[in-house]
Amino acid sequence: MPDTPALSLNDEERMRAGRLLTEFFDDYERSIPQRPLVPALDREVLADMLTTPLPEEGIGVEGLFREINQKILPNSTTVAHPRFLAYVLGPPNGIAPYAEAIAATINQNCNFWQLSPAASVVERAVVAWLAGLFGYGEQAGGILTGGGSIATLNALTTALHARRPRFREEGLQTVDPALVVYTSAEAHRCVDKAAAILGIGLNNVRRIATDDRYRMRVDVLEKAIRADRDAGREPFCVVATPGTVTSGSIDPIADIADVCERQDLWLHLDGAFGGLFVLSERKREAFQACCRANSIAIDPHKLLFAPLEAGCLLVRDRTSLTDAYAFSASYLTVEEDPVMVDYMDYGPQLSRGFKALKIWSALQTFGIGAFRSVMDRMLDLARYMADLIEAERDLELMAPVSLTAVCFRINNATEAEHNAALATLVDEGTALLGPAHLNGQHGMRACVTNYRTSHSDIEQIVARLARIARRHRAAANK
Ligand SMILES: Cc1ncc(COP(=O)(O)O)c(C=O)c1O
Repeated sequence: MPDTPALSLNDEERMRAGRLLTEFFDDYERSIPQRPLVPALDREVLADMLTTPLPEEGIGVEGLFREINQKILPNSTTVAHPRFLAYVLGPPNGIAPYAEAIAATINQNCNFWQLSPAASVVERAVVAWLAGLFGYGEQAGGILTGGGSIATLNALTTALHARRPRFREEGLQTVDPALVVYTSAEAHRCVDKAAAILGIGLNNVRRIATDDRYRMRVDVLEKAIRADRDAGREPFCVVATPGTVTSGSIDPIADIADVCERQDLWLHLDGAFGGLFVLSERKREAFQACCRANSIAIDPHKLLFAPLEAGCLLVRDRTSLTDAYAFSASYLTVEEDPVMVDYMDYGPQLSRGFKALKIWSALQTFGIGAFRSVMDRMLDLARYMADLIEAERDLELMAPVSLTAVCFRINNATEAEHNAALATLVDEGTALLGPAHLNGQHGMRACVTNYRTSHSDIEQIVARLARIARRHRAAANK
């Protein structure tokens, strides 16, 4: 038996792996604009990966990179492509792969601070910075999560514990009145999912109607709360959205906060898409009332361009998190330290990776100012796209452009025709956009969550869509 650890690389292998990784980064970066947005799947290769047994004898470093270059990369979506404007998904920032590699190397367990002292401080610094952006005070806290959906699930859990102090002991096995959550018709389905997971039940989620700008109607919200109280139910939480997933509309946060204060309800903000636009001076006003919310979900893996996964839950009062999540265990040797946070007490996970490093590294490397500029640039590009669309006779906007989501349709086209247009754009490599469904109408959606997108990319997309739309009109007039 050789006396070297079986799972380490020797000096030469490490050099080779480093060289291959650098080449991989370099080749990938240069190839992004030419790569297919969506891969032409090699189903034979993929099926083979499912059926070929994993090797008993390893294939080594070079073998691994060959597998990645030949099988993984060609069958992967090019999220970083400048004309990838689907969903709310951005390319990772440039330093992210390096930060991820370092986090994997030192493998800190961000559960309690003795296993990750510097990581605990970095997470605390990142969370404090994020909380400060929303005007939260000294008592605020938060935790990095796997994404916006998990942040909202954790927020609703926290709200539940705050409402029912004996929830930990009794769960939902009591005869208390049914708890009711309110959100808008345009809210992300993560609100439903959280309510379903927590046992609140979808029947106790009120989808409040929106106004003509797709914002929650506060008068309808108040009426629904009154109706539930009259029926013996217990309203407990409102989830408002500063940046809805389809159109990017911003709910009237201040008015909703007034209702929540009057009615003693937890206010959670789902800022997974829109929250980080607080970084833009132009949007500051729209986010001013966020500090009145009990909790805010945001997504650094969207608008801070951290690679997946990095969400964040912020709370106005960090004891609300420990009330819900702190459990002691005799097998964990935890010591209090005023500088450190034990993140296992702030969320459901025990073992946790060092997600904060990739966010902190990008902020250190590029500076906050670079992120502010990117926000403004993306807002400009979305406005530019909307202006180009408005100037086209055969295209129309479906919703005002509040942030960077642009929803539009081809005049008189059906859902199937819109889907066909989306498929054409992908097939010919023009762009990847998503579908939009608003107010009973179907259309398309471009979401500029991409720091690589340029004005000429936007012009190219709209020009192509205008040609498709003209052809559609000509065919309809035949
Ligand atoms: C408003 C909103 N909430 C929640 C989510 C879900 O976030 P995640 O995919 O990080 O769970 C999204 C995703 O786009 C979103 O736009």
